[in-house]
Amino acid sequence: MTSVAIVTGASSGIGAATARRLAAEGFHVLAAARRADRLAELVTEIAAAGGAATAVTCDVTSDESVAALADAAASAPGPVTLLVNNAGGARGLDPVESGSVGDWQWMYDVNVLGTLRVTQALLPALESSGAGTIVIVSSTAGFTVYEGGGGYTAAKHAQTAIAGTLRLELCGRPVRVIEIDPGMVKTDEFGLVRFAGDEAKAAATYAGVAEPLVAEDVADCVAWCATRPHHVNVDRLVVRPLAQAAQHKVHRTS
Ligand SMILES: NC(=O)c1ccc[n+]([C@@H]2O[C@H](COP(=O)([O-])OP(=O)(O)OC[C@H]3O[C@@H](n4cnc5c(N)ncnc54)[C@H](OP(=O)(O)O)[C@@H]3O)[C@@H](O)[C@H]2O)c1
Repeated sequence: MTSVAIVTGASSGIGAATARRLAAEGFHVLAAARRADRLAELVTEIAAAGGAATAVTCDVTSDESVAALADAAASAPGPVTLLVNNAGGARGLDPVESGSVGDWQWMYDVNVLGTLRVTQALLPALESSGAGTIVIVSSTAGFTVYEGGGGYTAAKHAQTAIAGTLRLELCGRPVRVIEIDPGMVKTDEFGLVRFAGDEAKAAATYAGVAEPLVAEDVADCVAWCATRPHHVNVDRLVVRPLAQAAQHKVHRTS
């Protein structure tokens, strides 16, 4: 029977690439995000490539919306074996002393409480599959802080804490917990969301970096971890572009 994978934040970037890749690996993908039009395009594209996916409009900050996602999973055509908690992002690059409480609130709601809400809703289905996998897309910001990144690094540290705690709590039950921590990934929208649509600021993040990671690189990591034999738990996978030795050490050609 086809296994079902749920990917949150599937309407763009890493989530969309992960949905495409998991469909190519043979999963029936439930692609979840708020923008229905983007999800519809993705599902059509996956079907044209010979895969199977269903769009589920979902706001991970809403209990009702996440409950509807769990309902969709219950009527999916197979056991739910994989959840990829990918929805998230950053807002602002302000110092702690002047950061917007609203931006911090948004980052905590989407990255942290979104992961909590979706994981709680899908855990029974993952466990009853007998071989469940939860992937949490945190970040290198989940273990390193940087100036201006207080709100985002706090949220990503919290996601990392969820992954570690959950792995301890689920020990002995058939659900593994995998944390993926990407460094710099050049996606279309991450920087635009961070800088409120300012294209110049968004582009500056990647200026002079010959080959930042792309969404497909992270999707490859998710797929590799999720397709290991189920007794193999990749606790944490840190992945950066070659040009980025650390948050503060990026090789730029200009
Ligand atoms: N790009 C990087 O350098 C990088 C590095 C490390 C980690 N990450 C992490 O990787 C993940 C994906 O990042 P990305 O670069 O692919 O960014 P992105 O293109 O901006 O994707 C973010 C996704 O999250 C979804 N989302 C936002 N709010 C949501 C909500 N309330 N409910 C449901 N979905 C929501 C968005 O869809 P809708 O707007 O349609 O809802 C979108 O599909 C994030 O968790 C990010 O923190 C990114």
